[in-house]
Amino acid sequence: MPVLECAVHWAVPADEPHMRDLLDAGERDRYERFLRAEDKARFVTGRFLARTVLSEATGLAPGGIRFTTDCPHCGGAHGKPRLPGSGLDFSLSHSGDRVVLVLSDGPEVGVDVERESDRDVDRLGTMVLSAPERDVLAEMPPDQRKRAFHSYWCRKEALLKATGHGLAASMTAIHVSGPDEPAAVLSWDDDKAVSPVRLADLTPGPGYAASVAVLTDRPLKITETPIG
Ligand SMILES: CC(C)(COP(=O)(O)OP(=O)(O)OC[C@H]1O[C@@H](n2cnc3c(N)ncnc32)[C@H](O)[C@@H]1OP(=O)(O)O)[C@@H](O)C(=O)NCCC(=O)NCCS
Repeated sequence: MPVLECAVHWAVPADEPHMRDLLDAGERDRYERFLRAEDKARFVTGRFLARTVLSEATGLAPGGIRFTTDCPHCGGAHGKPRLPGSGLDFSLSHSGDRVVLVLSDGPEVGVDVERESDRDVDRLGTMVLSAPERDVLAEMPPDQRKRAFHSYWCRKEALLKATGHGLAASMTAIHVSGPDEPAAVLSWDDDKAVSPVRLADLTPGPGYAASVAVLTDRPLKITETPIG
């Protein structure tokens, strides 16, 4: 089976005039509504990264790229960004000092990066983890639980971003492999479940977890640009 190549592009949030200039009217409105400078920077950097990468892939001018963001649930404009007619799929995520985009030449992709924080993993685990995953976490030494929780979280959110469901689908219905095992979906008991799926972990640097999901049975070859 032919390998599927996925390009992963990392960036550090910035908020420069030449980046803002590429936003369309709807994106500008959204940019203005963010209250915190860091949220503005993550948003504008993500859309700039998407336009830069998709411009290279398609030959379109960055300023001419218009994304659709139709929500499959209600039709509102807050769904997965797409570039219709390109034959490409991409996904964006941002957290802390990381912005990441993954590009696929066809199959649907999702990416998630999370800065590891001192969240209450036992409380959040009831919303994010399946019963077997909660058991794995409960057995772990306390100093490994934060990393493990964020690894589970990213693998699942990447999957739900590939399908476009986002957090409108249940995360606890998905059972993924343990943090120290190769990333894989073990079971998914939900009417939103899809198959086949490939998962892979990325290398976001210390203090972060990140994963990519692709709706394909082809083996993945992931190429990551350096962060910066
Ligand atoms: C998608 C979602 C999981 C992102 O969560 P997050 O951890 O806060 O943010 P991330 O940084 O990882 O991802 C944000 C990016 O995901 C993308 N995105 C948004 N909605 C998406 C969706 N449904 N599927 C895939 N990607 C989506 C966007 O590119 C967004 O970046 P932007 O700020 O530049 O627009 C979350 O916003 C969500 O679940 N949204 C949909 C909820 C929904 O559908 N509710 C029902 C409404 S009727």
